Amino acid sequence: MKRQRSWVLIPLLGGLFGCAPASPPGSAAAGAGVAGAGVAGAPAGSSIQRTGADLFNGNCAACHQQSGQGIAGVYPNLADSPTVLGDPKALVRWVIKGQRAPSMPPGRYATAMPQFGWLKDADAAALFTYLRSSFGNHAPPVDAATVASALEE
Ligand code: HEC
Repeated sequence: MKRQRSWVLIPLLGGLFGCAPASPPGSAAAGAGVAGAGVAGAPAGSSIQRTGADLFNGNCAACHQQSGQGIAGVYPNLADSPTVLGDPKALVRWVIKGQRAPSMPPGRYATAMPQFGWLKDADAAALFTYLRSSFGNHAPPVDAATVASALEE
């Protein structure tokens, strides 16, 4: 159940941010209702943290759980994860392109993770900053320029 919900939200949020590869008719209006105000074009400041939390709860928490702790043996824990806390460019390439980080040997989990290529650089930066400063994690923030350069390499 929870897992299916995330699959529904991915195209909806993509439609809201205006870069979904193929959003079904009407999804933009539905997406606006789901994500609420304050995501696109919000003023800088505390809304960054809010956007990161919204993106996580809408797209990642179905598997990794709102606590970030995942489900043992099924979905990895993002607290103390070397992928989350380590090189931010490796984190970017995993979540956005599905390119496996050195800290993630293949074959640990039976389930695959979807890719989030529709995330805009600034939103991805807010999401990664949220991951690195939540669940007891303490790693420096990630900015949009780092996201962009990670994807160019
Ligand atoms: C459908 C379930 C699912 C969703 C949704 C999902 N993930 Fe994952 N995630 C996984 C699985 C399964 C793995 C392990 C993949 C592997 O090692 O092959 C993983 C691995 C990761 C890792 C590496 C953790 C580690 O220490 O190995 C990170 C970071 C991560 N996911 C972040 C995210 C973010 C951010 C989102 C939302 C934008 C997200 N995931 C959405 C299932 C999911």
